[in-house]
Amino acid sequence: MDKIVVQGGRRRLQGEVSVSGSKNAALPLLISSLLTAEPCVYQNIPHLADIRTTLRLLNGLGVTVDREAWDAGSAELTLRADRVSHFEASYDLVKTMRASFLVLGPLVARFGEARVSAPGGCAIGMRPVNLHLKGLAEMGAAIEQVHGYVEVRAKRLRGAKILLDVPSVGATENLIMAATLAQGTTVIENAAREPEIEDLAAALNNMGAKVDGAGRDVVHIEGVDVLHGVTHRVIPDRIEAGSFVIAGALTGGEVRVIGARPEHLEAFLIKLKEAGVTLETSANSVSVRGNGKIKSVDVTTLPYPGFPTDLQAQMMVLMSVADGVSVITETIFENRFMHALELDRMGTDIRLEGNRAVVRGVRELSGAPVMATDLRASVSLILAGLVANGTTEVARVYHLDRGYEQVEKKLSQLGAEIQRVKA
Ligand code: UD1
Repeated sequence: MDKIVVQGGRRRLQGEVSVSGSKNAALPLLISSLLTAEPCVYQNIPHLADIRTTLRLLNGLGVTVDREAWDAGSAELTLRADRVSHFEASYDLVKTMRASFLVLGPLVARFGEARVSAPGGCAIGMRPVNLHLKGLAEMGAAIEQVHGYVEVRAKRLRGAKILLDVPSVGATENLIMAATLAQGTTVIENAAREPEIEDLAAALNNMGAKVDGAGRDVVHIEGVDVLHGVTHRVIPDRIEAGSFVIAGALTGGEVRVIGARPEHLEAFLIKLKEAGVTLETSANSVSVRGNGKIKSVDVTTLPYPGFPTDLQAQMMVLMSVADGVSVITETIFENRFMHALELDRMGTDIRLEGNRAVVRGVRELSGAPVMATDLRASVSLILAGLVANGTTEVARVYHLDRGYEQVEKKLSQLGAEIQRVKA
């Protein structure tokens, strides 16, 4: 297995770095191509393991994937779901990538049946799918759980009023997709408001769907009989952008993150300002100037527009070298502090108390061999490695490869000493 090796120290990162297309927007978008027999063209698709898994999944269902150019480095993919012949997502795929569960809504909406492995828990918590299923049941689907698989059938879904207990991103996306082809109007209350959902709705509307209110907490979807092809450019990855902003702040550097949309990062940028980091924003960039001094701030993760759980691990690294004590509260996932245990090996002072981490800033971190436990944890270890004295070796980087495109190359361009060591 590959490793990422970082030579740390107080090396200031400097320069410009471009953000790739959003993984979390791209996954549901690619999957939404199942809703039409016409070709769908998606642009700004990052080269990531999760995208390859999604293409494998769609291909297995019978979707034609034109990926030659993408495999050769372009960011464009064309998908055509005119010969879908299977309606199943296997355990293998779903356990590799939970977002595979998103095929459920589109498959049952267009073909009347779907069989998808139940995802089970994962490194960061239980992550149930009850809300996806409850919504589909309210739209008239018959749902059975057999041998670890969820089987869903419906002649035609019908519009319904659905109240989500928590604003789940995946459930909102699954149900919006399902509702586009349902009979009548669906209303989703307490919907998630993430920018990735707005991006999905924009593409669906260009396919002929009638989705209104995506990005707000009540979404109306008027079902239509058929959807058409689309050309859609995926929004930039706000989590990747935020990770580079932290890299700049942490190293006391000067970094311009191109493609970052400040309006998608508001809660995060406010916290960084509170922490004493100088920021300048334009419509599509965030520039960060760190002076090497960081103040402790308390952070609580919340559904969008709150502070994103996907930037919690990175923020914890920043707080690990700040002046004072910070309390980080994780309210989205119950077990999302695994990185703290690895950071401990690098000399941080973090005490875990249930869903709170009390982080006392230390003067120095020291490089160590560490192990990535999940996607965002893996980048946090690299960030820590940038400022730690000596060498940090991050193992299990397949987690990283799921969600960060060429991170070692991008950080090298900013002056970091980082390389991938092939197994
Ligand atoms: C998405 C993101 C992930 C991010 C998360 C929260 C993708 C591919 N992944 O994951 O990077 O960390 O949003 O911002 O976009 N829940 C239920 N029942 C359900 C579904 C969810 O109780 O049926 C709970 C979960 O356990 C969790 C919370 O809702 O506590 C949020 O999960 P959700 O928003 O669904 O996350 P994902 O869509 O899986």
